[in-house]
Amino acid sequence: VQSVPLKVMISGAPASGKGTQCELIVKKFGLVHISTGDLLRFEVSAGTEIGLKAKEYMNAGRLVPDEIVTAMVTGRLSQKDAKEKGWLLDGYPRSLAQAQSLENMQIRPDIYIALDVPDDILIDRCVGRRLDPLTGKIYHIKNFPPENEEVKSRLVTRPDDTEEKARSRLQIYKQNVDAILSTYFSILKKLDGNRSKEVVFKEIESLLTQVQKEKSNQEALA
Ligand code: AP5
Repeated sequence: VQSVPLKVMISGAPASGKGTQCELIVKKFGLVHISTGDLLRFEVSAGTEIGLKAKEYMNAGRLVPDEIVTAMVTGRLSQKDAKEKGWLLDGYPRSLAQAQSLENMQIRPDIYIALDVPDDILIDRCVGRRLDPLTGKIYHIKNFPPENEEVKSRLVTRPDDTEEKARSRLQIYKQNVDAILSTYFSILKKLDGNRSKEVVFKEIESLLTQVQKEKSNQEALA
């Protein structure tokens, strides 16, 4: 049976491992990865109008206004590749208003994955995170050190990854999380994100494979 495109949302507190799991999910399932954090960081580095507006919010660890982010996400979701290959939405929705915007447009995922990680571990992951600007790969000074000196020498730290800003991001996450979860309660899968990235991925892989099978079966019956 031809597989039908999957629609996946992945959520969790700052540094819960969304981006890390998305790298693995994309490799295995070929979905189009739409990360609002990555899209916004791209706008900031390109110095666009959106980037100039978003920068002050991001660097302060606050949410960028809904209308900016929502326009960006819905624009990306409507592109051909996302429709054909399926999508993996990371970092959106992040507020009740954002969840409602998607509901109003009848954009709903097949599954909503929430990564659960204790607060003290989240802060340690934020402060130790490093990014490779060339490949986009995510590292951690202790957990996932770079493979060689060349990569190490070009790694950068995000401006919002100080302990103080990480705490502020975590607090904003906690203020919003319940309202968002209630929107996706019927398709919610909560996972323990405080395990090795391979173990977490195994669980995600089996969930997505199962959803894919169910969708293909429904399609065959229709
Ligand atoms: P965004 O980039 O989405 O940041 P975030 O949600 O805070 O998530 P992170 O990117 O910090 O973490 P992650 O969960 O992807 O973890 P990662 O895999 O990197 O957003 C940034 C900003 O943009 C926001 O603050 C806001 O201003 C703005 N924004 C974005 N979306 C918005 C929206 N919808 N509305 C309004 N504003 C928006 O992992 C973290 C670290 O842990 C890494 O070092 C990694 O190597 C390590 N690690 C990962 N998994 C494991 C593991 N299993 N074990 C040990 N270490 C691990």
